[in-house]
Amino acid sequence: RQANIPLEHGDKHSKSTGRNDRLKTYPQLFDKAFPYFREPVENGCFSLDARRQFRHDSSQLRVFSPPADWKRCLFDLRSGYGDMIKRDETKKEYLDDLLRWIMCNKHKFMSRQKLETTSDSKTLKHGTEQADIPNVFDSLNTDFICWRGLLTRLLCIPYENREDLLVAVVRFRGTYFMCEFDTERKKQEVQERTPKQEEMCAWGFKFEQYVTADKSSGARDTKLRVNTNTAFCSVARSRLGSHSIVFGAEVDCQDGNSKRGNVYVELKTSRVIESQRQYENFCKFKLIKWWAQSFLIGIPRIVCGFRDDNGVVQTLQNYPVHEIPAMVKACVRQPWKPSVCFNFLEAFLQFVKANITTDDERCVYLFRWQPGSDVICQRQGDDPEFYFLPDWFTSWDAW
Ligand code: A3P
Ligand code: MG
Ligand code: MG
Repeated sequence: RQANIPLEHGDKHSKSTGRNDRLKTYPQLFDKAFPYFREPVENGCFSLDARRQFRHDSSQLRVFSPPADWKRCLFDLRSGYGDMIKRDETKKEYLDDLLRWIMCNKHKFMSRQKLETTSDSKTLKHGTEQADIPNVFDSLNTDFICWRGLLTRLLCIPYENREDLLVAVVRFRGTYFMCEFDTERKKQEVQERTPKQEEMCAWGFKFEQYVTADKSSGARDTKLRVNTNTAFCSVARSRLGSHSIVFGAEVDCQDGNSKRGNVYVELKTSRVIESQRQYENFCKFKLIKWWAQSFLIGIPRIVCGFRDDNGVVQTLQNYPVHEIPAMVKACVRQPWKPSVCFNFLEAFLQFVKANITTDDERCVYLFRWQPGSDVICQRQGDDPEFYFLPDWFTSWDAW
């Protein structure tokens, strides 16, 4: 393993990393065959409770429980808004909960060879006794660790024309940890939100309450206070080209009818579509994000509640994720292409590897992008603003 290799360009803050420090993002550059993407496999899960505390269980997983009539719903998303308990969004969470999950699941990151030599060829399954597992290891045997949300954003970049992106990356023990940060533009947008816009941001959570039920009792309770601290997260492992990735994803609910194991449903709300023009925009700008988000973790369907301007959901619609690209192709003149999205993501991951030459938890690299420009890489060093790997993780006694 390489450690602390000095860079040609010195080690002061914000230095460009050299010749390969720009990545173009035009769709035309990535318009080739779909790259190898291994079907994501769920590797574990965790929950965040009403106080946003990590729990290594599926206690917050809910079950999809739609009404019988999908054409006449009348779900008032404004109901109970005043009592809603909102997560403190000023508190940055970085990768902390994902790192907590990793620390609970050390054995899932051991190389097979090491496991076999140390544990007497015992098969290691979920719930294996910690005593069977070797105490020390030197790497996670994974190239990238991040949240699914970042991968979704990256997939959409070749077609994105509004939102910019800022990603901090640290290479530690051979693994690239990637964490999204709010850009100045995003911070300003959040600050300038009107109370009405604030309220609209919460509608999606109220919708979840109308169409999901408690796992054990099977009961729906739309009178309960909505608490946006709670979450259920699935952790998946996959591979894109030569890059192995472990990523966490907040998942809305489980499909109660599915015969297969854990099959999830993604829930969305959107304004009712009243014209061809609105439908085209929906296909062009919204469905790309919905598709990317669900496809990444192998979620087979999305259920959307179409609401009016007063926040009343009137109809529900089912969108099989694998049918979305064809739907878009049928109505948009220059449709987005899944292959472009994935080829770009692969190129981005390659770009990260090519630019980060040090293996040092204190050295942060920033990848910045804004619409119309290239992705730019800067070595940021140990700038406290972007330093996101906590000590309790880097000084974990398993290393
Ligand atoms: P909608 O997408 O139905 O509006 P997700 O759909 O990804 O599970 O997110 C659940 C809800 O969180 C969203 O529901 C929305 O209410 C809120 N949300 C997600 N991303 C957001 C963002 N970037 N800004 C504001 N609210 C957001
Ligand atoms: Mg969600
Ligand atoms: Mg959702």
